[in-house]
Amino acid sequence: MKLSQRITNITGGGSDGWDVFYKARRMIAKGVDVTELTIGEHDIRTDPVILAAMDQSARGGHTGYAMVPGTQEMREAVAARLTERTGVPTSYENILITPGGQSALFAAHVATCSPGDRALYIDPYYATYPGTIRGVGAEPVPIRTHAANAFKPKAEEIAVEATKGAASLLVNTPNNPTGTVYGRDTLNGIAQVCKEHDLWLISDEVYDTQVWEGEHISPRSLPDMAERTLVVGSMSKSHAMTGSRIGWIAAPKEVITHLINLATHTTYGVPGFIQDAAVFALAQGEELEAEIAAPFERRRDIAKDILANQNTVGLVPAQGAMYIMLDVRATGLSGEAFANSLLDTHNIATMPGESFGHSAHGHIRVAMTVDDKRFKSALQTLVDHAEHLAA
Ligand SMILES: Cc1ncc(COP(=O)(O)O)c(C=O)c1O
Repeated sequence: MKLSQRITNITGGGSDGWDVFYKARRMIAKGVDVTELTIGEHDIRTDPVILAAMDQSARGGHTGYAMVPGTQEMREAVAARLTERTGVPTSYENILITPGGQSALFAAHVATCSPGDRALYIDPYYATYPGTIRGVGAEPVPIRTHAANAFKPKAEEIAVEATKGAASLLVNTPNNPTGTVYGRDTLNGIAQVCKEHDLWLISDEVYDTQVWEGEHISPRSLPDMAERTLVVGSMSKSHAMTGSRIGWIAAPKEVITHLINLATHTTYGVPGFIQDAAVFALAQGEELEAEIAAPFERRRDIAKDILANQNTVGLVPAQGAMYIMLDVRATGLSGEAFANSLLDTHNIATMPGESFGHSAHGHIRVAMTVDDKRFKSALQTLVDHAEHLAA
């Protein structure tokens, strides 16, 4: 039987650069003690107080169908958070609650792209972006960025592709995989291109609580941008709730009305007890979020100290998120070859920059997701290995 082109085309075919990751998983399955610096999963679990709220809600009977757009309480909690943190007046009608940020990314592209439309995104990128775009039948168009500019996009380079016609532009700050945070100038440039070329802006802000330098600016808050921006949010990273699958889209009311129709025909909403736990978690405010984010800033500083004492491995300025991007070009190896050799010789698993597109070749992404002591030792080994290769 023939499957649809849309579903068979999601991965786009070819190598996706995740071979090192799968190799590490096979080694772990065989009992090898691998230091995993690969995926964006905290080394802590969801806080017990959040679980208690989940338990109380479920036992209290909130296990039936929840309202498809999200519970009133959850939509209002997210709206209040966005109003307070971005200054953009936001009501519950601007919010759809989704099963995580990934489903929000998919829904946002369904809402903005028709089959065959070109959908722009910034390279290097979070691994699912091109597949998400292909999944809605649109054509993924990467916009290359440059290590020398800390992988921040340049408005004029986005404009080159926008001029050829496009429906949307997807950006992500704080950024996975690079750890960079877009400043006001970068975002103003992006906003200008969106307005000039009538693009929807899809702004992935799932790392908005993890900023070590500068500030998180939501492009939805820039002049005349709220009407053309869909913000993707999630509690995965901010509250270590990756497995709870809860996130949201913030968008103009009309967009949300259509997205509710999509949710009715796809997810049919998010479990009520998860939403109640999320409302509880959001009510804990910035203190809990800061506590969850703190290890990544600490480890970023550990990395900075180790890298300050050598000249072989370069650190892309890491201002946020749970990753650092390291330039290993001085070893003469590609990111993929370096990651493979580090895994083979020292049982340390990292992600090749090539897993995230073309712009980050010769780099590796290090997820700062093991305890400080292990992180420090792994990073020192990584540097020693790079120096050995470069020599
Ligand atoms: C940039 C980015 N966006 C979205 C997601 C999706 O997160 P979730 O679906 O867990 O909310 C991730 C997860 O790693 C991510 O790194």
